[in-house]
Amino acid sequence: MKKPIIRKSLFYMVLGFLVFFPSLIVFSSQQGVVSKINKATEKLDKQGQVKSSILKPKNIVKVHEEYQGGEFFTEARKAEIKRFRCSSCHNNKKVSVLNAADLSHADIKVTHGDKGKSLACDTCHNKDNRDFLVTAKQSKIDLDHVYDMCGQCHFRQKKDWIGGAHGKRVTYWAGERVVKNCTSCHNPHSPRFEKRWPETYSVEPK
Ligand code: HEC
Ligand code: HEC
Ligand code: HEC
Ligand code: HEC
Repeated sequence: MKKPIIRKSLFYMVLGFLVFFPSLIVFSSQQGVVSKINKATEKLDKQGQVKSSILKPKNIVKVHEEYQGGEFFTEARKAEIKRFRCSSCHNNKKVSVLNAADLSHADIKVTHGDKGKSLACDTCHNKDNRDFLVTAKQSKIDLDHVYDMCGQCHFRQKKDWIGGAHGKRVTYWAGERVVKNCTSCHNPHSPRFEKRWPETYSVEPK
């Protein structure tokens, strides 16, 4: 009498386990996938995109202009300028040397501007604070934002530079857009690149 009941409940117990364990495995493996997706999308940016793992180069500044509705960056310049800070000499102390400008800046020759009429130092450098550049309206421009100064006269090149048709991108196609600054390529005192012959002539392959 009792035996069939035990057998029956044993049968249901085994059946229960057979159903329970596989579903536990399926469930836990799903958990694994879910947690992986969660982990990968943990760090979303404001637009809901996965953050890129490409590091921004050091020593860059955010450009004052927009590119395709977003921000972009350019190489900072001040750390590259040998004589910065200019105010270490250009302060209110008197200079009592003749031809002091020649002595201190003899290496600087300006060949920039219309033929026979080079630009004056003070067209670009702020007269009252040599640590800064200057606009035509006499307001200060930080040396890292030199593109704003050049762009006053070369607005076409500046527009092309913002759009990516002039200059060069420093980073890969992905990640933040970082481009070379005007003076990363051009010497402001002599900005024209000399014409030159190729280093070698082409040879017929042997
Ligand atoms: C080692 C000292 C020293 C440093 C650093 C220095 N200058 Fe000068 N600079 C002089 C002296 C000296 C003169 C000539 C006297 C004067 O005009 O104050 C001069 C003159 C000038 C002039 C006028 C030149 C002329 O022919 O009228 C400009 C422009 C100038 N400096 C720009 C700069 C800028 C920009 C920096 C920084 C990037 C700088 N200097 C850093 C010493 C220095
Ligand atoms: C067309 C604009 C322009 C003119 C004109 C100009 N400069 Fe500059 N100068 C610059 C800019 C921009 C820089 C910073 C370059 C950089 O980013 O590396 C600079 C840098 C300098 C420096 C620092 C260079 C270094 O590496 O130490 C000195 C000094 C200087 N200028 C002096 C002069 C003097 C003196 C004159 C006039 C004889 C002059 N500049 C004319 C734009 C100009
Ligand atoms: C005040 C106006 C002015 C500013 C500011 C100025 N330039 Fe110029 N630039 C000129 C003039 C004028 C010429 C000669 C005419 C021409 O070729 O467009 C010239 C010529 C040039 C040339 C040579 C063009 C050629 O045909 O070969 C380059 C490159 C250049 N500038 C780059 C710069 C850069 C980079 C800056 C900023 C550091 C700058 N300029 C700032 C006025 C300016
Ligand atoms: C990656 C380097 C690079 C950068 C950054 C760059 N230029 Fe140039 N630029 C060049 C080269 C290369 C030429 C072509 C020279 C030639 O054809 O002889 C040029 C030419 C020019 C000319 C001459 C006219 C022309 O269009 O050919 C001007 C003006 C000029 N650049 C201004 C600027 C200004 C302003 C900026 C910053 C907003 C800038 N450049 C940034 C490399 C650069």
